[in-house]
Amino acid sequence: MYKIGIAGATGYTGVELLRILSRHPNVEIKTLTSETYKGKRIDEVFPTLRNFASQELVSLDSSVGEGLDILFLALPHTTAMDEAPKFLKGDCRIVDLSADYRLRNASTFEEWYAVPHTQRELLKSVVYGLPELHREAIKSASLVANPGCYPTSAILALAPLMEEGWIDLDSVIVDSKSGVSGAGRKPSQGTQYCEVNEGVSAYGAARHRHTPEIEQEISGLAGRKLQITFTPHLMPMTRGILSSAYGRLTKEITLEKLVSYYKDYYEGEPFVRILPTGQLANTSYVSGSNFCDIGLQIDLRNKRVIVTSAIDNLIKGASGQAVQNMNIMLGLDEKAGLDFAPSFP
Ligand SMILES: NC(=O)c1ccc[n+]([C@@H]2O[C@H](COP(=O)([O-])OP(=O)(O)OC[C@H]3O[C@@H](n4cnc5c(N)ncnc54)[C@H](OP(=O)(O)O)[C@@H]3O)[C@@H](O)[C@H]2O)c1
Repeated sequence: MYKIGIAGATGYTGVELLRILSRHPNVEIKTLTSETYKGKRIDEVFPTLRNFASQELVSLDSSVGEGLDILFLALPHTTAMDEAPKFLKGDCRIVDLSADYRLRNASTFEEWYAVPHTQRELLKSVVYGLPELHREAIKSASLVANPGCYPTSAILALAPLMEEGWIDLDSVIVDSKSGVSGAGRKPSQGTQYCEVNEGVSAYGAARHRHTPEIEQEISGLAGRKLQITFTPHLMPMTRGILSSAYGRLTKEITLEKLVSYYKDYYEGEPFVRILPTGQLANTSYVSGSNFCDIGLQIDLRNKRVIVTSAIDNLIKGASGQAVQNMNIMLGLDEKAGLDFAPSFP
C-alpha cells in the first residue's frame, strides 16, 4: 500500500480527495493537515466521512512528508509555493492542486498573480498534470502541478483543434460557467447564498488568472504563442463547469467529420467522453465523476466551430484529476479509485 498525505484536508478539494482515496485499493491515508481543526478527527469535522476516515488532523509542519509516497497540497495559492520544496527532500512526491506551479514562466505568474514567484528554480522540473497531454512526463515527475478547473475544461475542449488547421487559432473565445464550490470553502461575501442564488454573473473578463494557463497549453500544441478571450461566470449551483469554446473555421468540414476526429483524438482516454453527433455537454451528466464530456456543433451560417465541455470542478477539475495523476506517478491503473459513474439527478 502506498502512503498518502493531504495538506489542507478540510477544504473542498481536500475532502473530495479523501472521499476518493478512502475507497482506493492501493493507498493508505497516513496524514491529514488543518490549522483550524488540528487535534480533531476528520469525521468530527465532516460527518459525511463517518465509517470511511477517522484520522486526527495535524498541523502542517516539515515532518508531515516523512514516510509518504505522495503528498497532495490542497492549499490556497501562494501558501503551496513555499511549502512544496520542504517535502521534496525524501522519497515523497507532490501533486499540488494550487496555481503556484502551473505556469512554466515565472514572469507570467508574477504578471497575473501579482506576487513574486519564490521558487523559480523548482519551476523548471514541474510537470503540468493534464494526463491527456502529458502522461509520459507525469510518470517520473516529483512535482505535478494539477491543472485549474476552468483550464481543464477549456484545454480538453480545444486541444484537438490546435493541430488540425481547421480553425483560425487567433480567433478563439472561451466562455465558462462554474458552480460556487470553485471558490473554495473559506467564506466570502461573493459566495454567500443570497449573493449567488437566482442569479448569474460574469466576472474576471479578459483578466482571469486561468487565461495564461489555457494559453500556455494550447500554445504548446499549436507550436506558437496563442492568446484567447476568456470570460468565466458564476452559476447558482454547487458543482460543475460548462465551457463553450468558439473558433472561426478556415475550411469546410461536416459535423460528422469533426465528431469522428475528436473521437479518434481521445481514443483510449479513460475519462474523456465525446458525445454522439448533435449532443452538447451538460454538467449534470458528469457530476460526482472524473469524466469530461465534450459535445460539438458547427455554425454553418457564421463558419464557426462550437465545442462544449462539462466537468465536475471538484473531481476532473481538481481532486479526481489529482488522483489520476497519482495513479500515473505510482504506475497504478489510471482508473483506480476513479472508476465510477456520475451521480444523477
Ligand atoms: N475548489 C475548486 O473547485 C478548485 C479546483 C481546482 C483547484 N483548486 C485549488 O485547490 C486549492 C484548494 O482549494 P479548495 O477549494 O479546497 O480551498 P478551501 O476550501 O479554501 O481549502 C483550503 C485548505 O487549505 C488549508 N489552509 C488554508 N490556509 C492555510 C495555511 N496558511 N497553512 C496551512 N493550511 C492552510 C485550509 O485548512 P484549515 O482552514 O482547516 O486550516 C483548508 O483545508 C486552491 O489552491 C484552489 O485554487 C480548487
